[in-house]
Amino acid sequence: MHYEFDEIIDRKHDPYSFSFKWQKPDYVCKQVGVSELRDDVICLETADMDFRVAPEIIEDLKKLTEHGIFGYSSMPDAYKEAVVNWYGKRQGWDFKKDDIYYFPGTHEAIAQLVRLYTKQGEGVIVLVPCYGYHGDVEDNGRKYVQVRMINDGNEYFTIDYDALEKACADPNNTMIIMCHPHNPTGRVFTHEELNKVADICRRHDVLIVSDEVHSDILRQGQGFEPMMKACGPKGLIACTAVNKTFNLAGLAMTNVIICDEDLKLKEVGMYSMPTPFGIQAVISAYTRGEPWVDALNEYVDRNIDDCLEYIHKNLPKAKVIRPEGGYSINIDFSGYGLSDKEVAEKIYGKAGVILNSGLFFDDWRGLQVHRACLSSPHSMCLEAFERIAKEFENI
Ligand SMILES: Cc1ncc(COP(=O)(O)O)c(C=O)c1O
Repeated sequence: MHYEFDEIIDRKHDPYSFSFKWQKPDYVCKQVGVSELRDDVICLETADMDFRVAPEIIEDLKKLTEHGIFGYSSMPDAYKEAVVNWYGKRQGWDFKKDDIYYFPGTHEAIAQLVRLYTKQGEGVIVLVPCYGYHGDVEDNGRKYVQVRMINDGNEYFTIDYDALEKACADPNNTMIIMCHPHNPTGRVFTHEELNKVADICRRHDVLIVSDEVHSDILRQGQGFEPMMKACGPKGLIACTAVNKTFNLAGLAMTNVIICDEDLKLKEVGMYSMPTPFGIQAVISAYTRGEPWVDALNEYVDRNIDDCLEYIHKNLPKAKVIRPEGGYSINIDFSGYGLSDKEVAEKIYGKAGVILNSGLFFDDWRGLQVHRACLSSPHSMCLEAFERIAKEFENI
């Protein structure tokens, strides 16, 4: 079956779009201090995709719409079976249906796990630069403890085990949020890396929450080992979701996997019920969506290859590498020797390309490094870099 990823879908004006990414670029621009926005902005920020959801899922959701009653819903057995089968088949990860707990989105899951498993004032460790879990931690009165990863100078990041050991040895730090695959660095941690982290955490009684929501989006030739499979279930909770893989983030369907009997929660779906649309979308995605995900990964590989080639040729002072997982790249513009303000003004203001600045991932990264999600039609991704390159020409 041929899947269409080239189509440009208007998410800015379509009344049914409700897109955060396309309808709120001014929100992101404010963060980087740019106020004048072009009308024709290209948004490559926010990790969602500009591709229509797999036709198999849309077909099933149409049938659900025609059913016409969207009352309080209960999770059918087919839901959990679909989740178990997906991870068993795709990642060789075995867990039971009873190990699955539904949460309305990954942020909500992590925020609740922080509340459930740590106490007020305790520290939650994060390997930075990292996707922003600040709110999930700090809004719950816990401390956000940043352990910086090591940058080889070329945007390839590895874990600083000494710094991690030091943070874990502080008895006030009781949880770590691992992001695997790691957003934004694009690292997919190896079996050895995962086990070193697990060993340090377990020696100091630090609970591991492994956020694996990007684990189905892998670059060509790259395998993925779930942390629980690599290190066993003791003291470890995993977060998985269809949200990124199938572009279903708006349905907020996250599955938390807990196999450690000592960590089990009392009830599934404790605080809120999934919508019937969410339930059906997960079943359809995990039972019928595999060919679409494989085609998506191929398409994203091409986006990344072509954009990297273009950047290397036309933005020679920018540093960027191929990610191992996920669909985003980080571009370090510091080689151009411009001020933070000048870099932001060129990209967001003049070129009209909306990215995620380094500020979102680690205050140290400032406005010299920006993340681009290449989960949009090929022509759109390339146009974004053509516009940016024009602004940095002759510098
Ligand atoms: C690593 C990671 N975790 C969690 C989220 C948020 O997920 P959700 O939309 O399921 O809350 C994102 C979104 O970009 C992410 O990249």
